[in-house]
Amino acid sequence: MRTIPTGSLSPSSPGAAEVPTRLIPVYRPLLGEQEARTVNEALRQGAISGFFGEHLGRFERGFAEYCGCRHGIATTSGTTALHLAMATLSIGPGDEVLVSTLTNMATFFAVLYQGAKPVPIDIDEDTWNLDPELLEARITPRSRAILVVHLFGHPVDMGPVLEIARRHRLYVVEDCAEAHGATYQGKKVGGLGDIGCFSFYANKIITTGEGGMLTLNDAGLADKARSLKSLAFGSERKFMHTAIGYNYRMTNLQAALGCAQLERIEAIIERKRALARFYTSRFCDLASLQLPVEKPYARNVYWMYHVAVRDAAGGKRDAVMRALAERGIETREGFIPANMQQIFQGQGWTRADDCPKANDAGARSFYLPSGPSLSEEELEFIAASVREVLESL
Ligand SMILES: Cc1ncc(COP(=O)(O)O)c(C=O)c1O
Repeated sequence: MRTIPTGSLSPSSPGAAEVPTRLIPVYRPLLGEQEARTVNEALRQGAISGFFGEHLGRFERGFAEYCGCRHGIATTSGTTALHLAMATLSIGPGDEVLVSTLTNMATFFAVLYQGAKPVPIDIDEDTWNLDPELLEARITPRSRAILVVHLFGHPVDMGPVLEIARRHRLYVVEDCAEAHGATYQGKKVGGLGDIGCFSFYANKIITTGEGGMLTLNDAGLADKARSLKSLAFGSERKFMHTAIGYNYRMTNLQAALGCAQLERIEAIIERKRALARFYTSRFCDLASLQLPVEKPYARNVYWMYHVAVRDAAGGKRDAVMRALAERGIETREGFIPANMQQIFQGQGWTRADDCPKANDAGARSFYLPSGPSLSEEELEFIAASVREVLESL
């Protein structure tokens, strides 16, 4: 195998793609000395669990403030943050929650854990986010909440969503797992609805390895979420529990990592935006590829650079992914919509043909390596390879 080519990040001349010496992964987190120092500091203090260290509170306060929210409640993952949000809003059997069908299935699982019924909503073809125009027709007397997903770092068009929710007295929960720092009309996601839910998994904008966070402004809901996340211990007699709680507590070691990551969140986002600008400058003349957008109301943080072949015929997307894999470039297919998931068929709340636009996107889309630590040489190589592969098919 030959070496990764060297060269500048100029968007002008693609150059010949050379075979890299190793796999370029879809994501590699940016971790350095500051992260090592902060985690070591917590370790040396013996502050490993959430309740025994200062980092957890620091991370919760710092991240909530970053999102423009009063309260931050750290959890063990994005999935448990979503579940805790549903439980905090007392969503349960008989209730319906309108959810964007194109998402990581954790979003749907959170509704199902509570015995409630998810209602999959089809997408807008430009942003791949839930289309607000489709919401109203799916609202029934049992609807309790709208669960939006800011997919791949682009915020949902929240104005119409919030207006519909207000008129129908529905909660709005934001799944921000992929959108830390994204803004809608200048306001950060996570504080636009009633509760924001974040993930800090290793491939997220900032990471704690595994982890999640609720962000919110309502003090009553925050107290309830804080209690439920930690087994709902009693306040007078600790072991006289006030509800059936969960153990969704983030450790202080993870929070220490989060504190260090939070210090460089804007630098990471800027790097990801630069990376997206680079890819877009290289691909904008390729008629065969649909590229990510940034609507006038949005700051897209480009969690992943998610693209779609225009024509799904003949399994073209899979052929492109295979050809890139042969060159050592890892890609990942886009999400399979909820309405297409085999485990949900026959349950009575969705059918495969429910959301045609999401089905189409699911068959055409994939994402390219998008980590903030990608080198310029790697980016050059990926961009040249994508062009060559698309032009050869
Ligand atoms: C949109 C979305 N929601 C929820 C999750 C679940 O987060 P976690 O993996 O931290 O449980 C993810 C994560 O990967 C996601 O992308």
